[in-house]
Order: sequence, then structure tokens, then C-alpha cells
Amino acid sequence: MTTSSQTDFTFHKDHLMAEDEIVFLPIDAVTKQTDDEYLFRFDVKAKYDPGQFFQCSLLGIGESAISICSDSEEYFELSIRSVGNVTSKLCVLKKGDHMGLRGPYGHGYEMDTFKGKNMIVIGGGSGVAPVRGVIQNIYKNRGHFGSVDLLFGFRQKSFMLFEENFSDWQSEDMTIRIAMNEKADYPNATKGFVTDILDHILPNKNTAIIICGPPIMITFVAKVLLKKGFQKEDIFISEERHMKCAVGRCGHCMIHGKYSCTDGPVFRYDEIY
Ligand SMILES: Cc1cc2nc3c(=O)[nH]c(=O)nc-3n(C[C@H](O)[C@H](O)[C@H](O)COP(=O)(O)OP(=O)(O)OC[C@H]3O[C@@H](n4cnc5c(N)ncnc54)[C@H](O)[C@@H]3O)c2cc1C
Ligand code: FES
Repeated sequence: MTTSSQTDFTFHKDHLMAEDEIVFLPIDAVTKQTDDEYLFRFDVKAKYDPGQFFQCSLLGIGESAISICSDSEEYFELSIRSVGNVTSKLCVLKKGDHMGLRGPYGHGYEMDTFKGKNMIVIGGGSGVAPVRGVIQNIYKNRGHFGSVDLLFGFRQKSFMLFEENFSDWQSEDMTIRIAMNEKADYPNATKGFVTDILDHILPNKNTAIIICGPPIMITFVAKVLLKKGFQKEDIFISEERHMKCAVGRCGHCMIHGKYSCTDGPVFRYDEIY
């Protein structure tokens, strides 16, 4: 176990800390996003791909997999939703408190492979957090991508994530469409699910589609897109299987013969379906 100050520690994507090593890092900022979600920022130099994740922990409580939702080599951010035993305890941590972290783990979005393509990024609920890193990457390298469509599904305005980034993204010619299934109380939001705002999306050979959200949402969105004529090879999904070891040892996260923790959590659709 290592205790680290923010100035003397660097995560490297290719040279992770020893596989099982936990570091306890001080939290540099906490922002309340919704009633249940909090954004934690660590001012630690870090190399990672959007879509990779950390195992976040508190001693004596447990660990939870949390996706990195930023895109920077100077810091990283985690958006945590309080849903149960571990996440409810993580979400009460304050600036200056220490969080246990293992990682970054997993296979994320290889952004270089998307360069030159039109991008469709679809996120549902807290699934918007993992794709926020993808969008930030596109934002910073906007000239390398074609058209960019962002489609988000939330229950209603009070559940929205990262609205504070919308104007920046729109200023870089990214289109944002929003579906709200409980109450469409945000300007121009469509009442319904993400599948209700896919009408304008037409198949194009040079398009990559990124989907993250509840499994049922991924299933229905992929079904609609495949029916429209998109190919499985164009679709990338993040599979949030329940994880334990996160390093390919326990088999808890197996999906169709693959380890969600090491082969994923980001998969090309045809790799598993
Ligand atoms: C790769 C990956 C990335 C993730 N990224 C994020 C993220 O960025 N932000 C975030 O808030 N959450 C994320 N999650 C989900 C998060 O790991 C779980 O919500 C968390 O582990 C729940 O732990 P808990 O002890 O608080 O809840 P528990 O007390 O264990 O359970 C609460 C409820 O959540 C369910 N649950 C528990 N663990 C998981 C799990 N791993 N996946 C799905 N359902 C689960 C239980 O069945 C139960 O219904 C991610 C999960 C994975 C696998
Ligand atoms: S979580 Fe143990 S093998 Fe993936």
C-alpha cells in the first residue's frame, strides 16, 4: 500500500502501479452534480484513455469500479453515483480527504483510431460520465474529426450531467440532442428515450458510434442503428459488468468469453455480440 502526495506520484498507462497496489490520493475538488452524483478531481499527472477505470476504495468498506470522465495529462476526474454500500461512502468524501485508487485499468476508447471519422456519441444517465472523456478529447482535437453528434438521455433536468460543458462543445460545432423520459424540462429536449432522437442519424461508412449507458439502453440503441444499416464494426460500447479483481484473475466480469476488466470495458460491438 502506498500513501502519496499530489506532487510525487505519476500514473502511467503503460507502466501501471504494481497490479494490486492501492494508492491513497487526496481529493483536490468535489462538485455536486445531481442529488446522487459527485465529481471528484485529482490534480495528479495521469496517462489514460477515456473509458478506462479505477477501482475506488475506502478501507474496511470495499471497492467500486469508476470510469475516468476527463481527458487530460494534468489531472483526472471521476463522477460517482451513490447507489449502494461503497459508492454512498465515497460520495461523502470532501476536498482533502483521501480516496483509495487502483488502476487505471481496462481497455478504453482508442481515440487515434477515430481520427478522420464522423462521431456519434450516445450516453444515457450516468453513462454520460465515461463518454465525457471522449467528448473532451474530440473538443481538444476538433480538427481531426468530421461531424460530431452528441445524444444524451436523462430522466429529467435535475438528473443532467455536464450541462456546464455544453456551450463549449456546441461552440466547436458539436450538435447536442437530449431525450428526457420522465419530464422534458430542458430547452429543446424531446420527451422520450434516446431511441426517440435517432431519426436524423443515417448510416455512413466513415462514422464511429460510441454508446454508454444502462445495458437495456445499449441493446435498444444498437438494435435501431443496426436496422438503419450501420455495421457492428462501427459501434463501440462500454460494458459495465460487475467487477472484483479488475485485473483478469477472478472471472467475475466474463462476457462471451472475454474479460470485461482487461479486454474491455470498451468493446467493438462485434467482439461480443
Ligand atoms: C467498468 C465500470 C465503470 C463504471 N463507471 C462508473 C462511473 O463512472 N460512475 C459510477 O457512479 N458508477 C460506475 N460504475 C458502477 C459502479 O461500479 C457501481 O455502481 C458500484 O460498484 C456499486 O457499488 P456499491 O457498493 O455502492 O453498491 P452495492 O451496495 O454493491 O449495490 C447497489 C446496486 O448496484 C448494483 N451493482 C453493484 N455493483 C455493480 C456494478 N459493478 N455494476 C452494475 N451494478 C452494480 C447492485 O446489484 C445493486 O443493485 C462502473 C462499473 C464498471 C464495471
Ligand atoms: S473482475 Fe476479475 S477477472 Fe475481471
